[in-house]
Amino acid sequence: MELTAPPLALYLHFPWCVSKCPYCDFNSHALQGELPQETYLAALLIDLDTQLARVGSRPVVSVFLGGGTPSLFEPNALGRLFEKVRASITIAPGAEITLEANPGTIERGRFADYRAAGITRVSLGAQSFAPAQLETLGRIHSAQDTHAAVAELRAAGIDNFNLDLMYALPSQALAGALSDLRTAIALQPAHISHYQLTMEPGTVFGGRPPAGLPDDELSFEMQQACQAELAQAGYAQYETSAYARAGAQCVHNLNYWRFGDYLGVGAGAHGKLTQVAGGATVAITRTVREREPRRYLTRGHADPPPTSAVARADLPFEFMMNALRLVDGFDESLFETRTGLAWSELSAPLDRLAERNLLESIPRQASGWRPTELGRRFLNDAIAEFLPTRPGV
Ligand SMILES: C[S@@+](CC[C@H](N)C(=O)[O-])C[C@H]1O[C@@H](n2cnc3c(N)ncnc32)[C@H](O)[C@@H]1O
Ligand code: SF4
Repeated sequence: MELTAPPLALYLHFPWCVSKCPYCDFNSHALQGELPQETYLAALLIDLDTQLARVGSRPVVSVFLGGGTPSLFEPNALGRLFEKVRASITIAPGAEITLEANPGTIERGRFADYRAAGITRVSLGAQSFAPAQLETLGRIHSAQDTHAAVAELRAAGIDNFNLDLMYALPSQALAGALSDLRTAIALQPAHISHYQLTMEPGTVFGGRPPAGLPDDELSFEMQQACQAELAQAGYAQYETSAYARAGAQCVHNLNYWRFGDYLGVGAGAHGKLTQVAGGATVAITRTVREREPRRYLTRGHADPPPTSAVARADLPFEFMMNALRLVDGFDESLFETRTGLAWSELSAPLDRLAERNLLESIPRQASGWRPTELGRRFLNDAIAEFLPTRPGV
């Protein structure tokens, strides 16, 4: 099969937040003192420049400003950033440009200004609408702030927005999870990300889990009930935690899950690039930037990031860690074009997984495979079947 490089996305990381939430293990840091806005944006441009040689003239299909809290940055400043980014790299016409926003940082008119700056999609961290939960989660905003932020989105004409919600919260009952979800649905977002709260090592909750966490059975019940509610309201699940109205799937995240390429720019940002020559995959490499924002600013952004090649033996596992999150799974052509490996390499693990009822071939679709309902519940077991150390892989 003749290979071409996969779609290329651009991720820009903004590492500061007003305060650090106790559950969060993202590379985010409570802001101390003034936001070094101009210094950081200048560093992002230098960082991007150091990586351009590796992508040639490939256009960018989506841009994602993630965090941390990118909405701490002024719309005008981001507008100036985009102008300069566009001078260095082609952003495809109509590309999705997403901004992650915290409802506690949105004042009047701010989304209209972000839209004028080039933002086409917003992902709003609602998390819950229950005041007691917002407090336990250490959020800096009220439910009312989230309602006001959505009103600002509408006023700005940004209908393509996502709400992040978490469930399986401390002391939460099924009714509480459903009530949060119904409030979110009533706001009519184009997309809902519905995450089960997890205890991450190195976080406050990871060290000392809050009291009253729902057990696995109740968490699963919440997930099932919420999934049914979402489906009924017209939000189709397309990934483990992602639900969208028709046509509103997140282009940027889909590219990750389909094992596409991305440039990672900013403190702690990860990148992945595929080099193709003569119709064959030459190498798949990963990059990662210095995590700590001050160190990133002083010396972590000025040289090309170190690269590490993904070993050929690790590629099936790496591909599956992404593709198996998708409700529609993957097919032969996607696997072969993204990894450069032959489909036959998957025969043994696919057979084993079908036998365990974790994966199934998709009816009436040549070579398509997807997780079964059981497989979606025990995703890590399914993915582990592709680990290189297992015999037969
Ligand atoms: C990087 S955060 C960005 C959003 C923005 N900073 C905010 O919080 O408003 C992305 C999302 O990941 C989810 N998240 C973070 N930590 C989590 C955890 N431990 N368990 C489940 N979801 C989590 C939250 O829903 C959060 O909104
Ligand atoms: S959840 Fe969002 S606001 Fe809270 S610390 Fe993480 S990135 Fe910052």
